[in-house]
Amino acid sequence: MKSVVAENLVKTYRKGAVRALDNLSLDVEEGTVLGVLGPNGAGKTTTVRVLSTLLEPDSGHATVGGIDVIKNPKAVRQIIGLSGQYAAVDETLSGWDNLVMFGQLYHLSASQAKARATELLAQFTLAEAAHRPIKTFSGGMRRRLDLAASLIIRPKVLFLDEPTTGLDPRGRMEMWGVIEGLAREGVTLLLTTQYLEEADQLADDIVVIDQGKVIARGTSDQLKDQVGGERIEIVVAQENLVKAQEVIERVTHGRATVDPGIRRISVPVLDGTQSLIAVIREFDSAGIHALDLALKRPSLDDVFLSLTGHVAEAEIPVDEGKKKGARK
Ligand SMILES: Nc1ncnc2c1ncn2[C@@H]1O[C@H](COP(=O)(O)OP(=O)(O)O)[C@@H](O)[C@H]1O
Ligand SMILES: [Mg+2]
Repeated sequence: MKSVVAENLVKTYRKGAVRALDNLSLDVEEGTVLGVLGPNGAGKTTTVRVLSTLLEPDSGHATVGGIDVIKNPKAVRQIIGLSGQYAAVDETLSGWDNLVMFGQLYHLSASQAKARATELLAQFTLAEAAHRPIKTFSGGMRRRLDLAASLIIRPKVLFLDEPTTGLDPRGRMEMWGVIEGLAREGVTLLLTTQYLEEADQLADDIVVIDQGKVIARGTSDQLKDQVGGERIEIVVAQENLVKAQEVIERVTHGRATVDPGIRRISVPVLDGTQSLIAVIREFDSAGIHALDLALKRPSLDDVFLSLTGHVAEAEIPVDEGKKKGARK
């Protein structure tokens, strides 16, 4: 069964000058994770806002849990959780106090709210910090608390808008662990991200969006195959260039491209690590010394370049440019 269905959503801003959603369609199978992957300005937040009833589309249809988001937003809100790049928390209160407060907003009794707060803080590895004021929390802890708050009523469908943007690598890993736990519990998840590796790690299926349109969908393996998968890049000394290319092509059965200017040989491979090891062994017996070597995975930029023919540029709206610039 489909938990989320969006059909031909159109949303424009500034009297049609900005087409944030341009006939966007997607769906999420119950109990799975859909990653919505796209650069800044692609329409990710607009999609999430429409599906979570915060914004009406100009046209198109959407249902969540079989309920129409436009005709019956109240009923949709009762079965969804939304966690975004904002925190509606009280900075001076502790994490525990905040969650108890949210619980009461959702009409839980005082004892139910307290029990749920304790449970969620443990689930998101915040138990130790439970009674510290939020203003002492790291970015990662804040995000986890924000996520915990969206889970108070045990939503059937959870929307996460760029859950790790701005987090340091450690915060990102912790958030990934938390999201994986939710997925294992069977929560239906739609998460947006700018990072292919994040969609790769967390999502069962991925839709790639650009300029309000779906430009590709599939599993991460299918997307990477479209982009050409992994490749090995090796830099050798000038006198070894021809010989090295020969060895690389023989070992990987791939067709190498050579950039003579920087003496770099690049070849697509299927089993990256194995191929790299095999190449190094052969280099060793052929007496070739690699000056630099790398196994490259396709990045979001590679996916974009391959699918759209243009790089994924960060887009900053004209009248929001100042604000965004100031925040950095
Ligand atoms: N309130 C708004 N007013 C005008 N333009 C907007 C507004 N919100 C979003 N947009 C524009 O709509 C497009 C999609 O934005 P958004 O959904 O926020 O993308 P993303 O979340 O992928 O970065 C962008 O071009 C953005 O500038
Ligand atoms: Mg956004």
